Amino acid sequence: MITIGKNAPRIGKVPSVVLINPKYPRNVGTIQRTCSCFDISQLWWTGKRVTLNPEKGERLPREERMRGYKDVTLLNYDKPLEQFPRGTTPVAIEVRPNCETLPTFVHPENPVYVFGPEDGSIPKQILRLCHRFVIVPTKHCLNLAMTVNVVLYDRMVKLGESFDISTVEDRAWKIPEDNVNKVDGLEIT
Ligand SMILES: C[S@@+](CC[C@H](N)C(=O)[O-])C[C@H]1O[C@@H](n2cnc3c(N)ncnc32)[C@H](O)[C@@H]1O
Repeated sequence: MITIGKNAPRIGKVPSVVLINPKYPRNVGTIQRTCSCFDISQLWWTGKRVTLNPEKGERLPREERMRGYKDVTLLNYDKPLEQFPRGTTPVAIEVRPNCETLPTFVHPENPVYVFGPEDGSIPKQILRLCHRFVIVPTKHCLNLAMTVNVVLYDRMVKLGESFDISTVEDRAWKIPEDNVNKVDGLEIT
């Protein structure tokens, strides 16, 4: 059991993703999958709109609970940015004026990417804790899970050869031929 709190050792691992008060479990599930794909080991979120209390039978949607994503630890905690070590760079990904734009953004070495809720935006008290501010220059606001995808893909592309994809290849090789597109009998969609 992990103890999280102001007086316990910090457990945040970079790079990481933080969702502020997400509304839909489906998005959290999709983002867990995205984190696994891009080798992000922790997914944090705040608020109580998405809860995963096994005693109450609360779980992410079935299609997102597949074995491959267990390498991403899910952490529901209201002050996630306190949990990261010195030298971490919290990056607010938000639609707001005077931001850096993603295509020219140089990803910091120890990033924590912070995203707002589906029905709002990153609140001021969290923005104050962020060091960089990035907008994806799209015609309209993106879906939350899509934004996480785009940002992590952009990071992978810009890291180039230093992004280690061997784990991805290893995993692909482990899927038996008769089970292509399935894990634990569930279709990968
Ligand atoms: C669906 S949006 C929130 C809705 C939006 N505030 C509105 O007024 O419709 C959820 C989150 O996705 C991220 N997001 C969506 N589109 C974005 C974009 N083009 N650039 C940066 N962040 C974006 C932000 O973190 C945002 O808080």
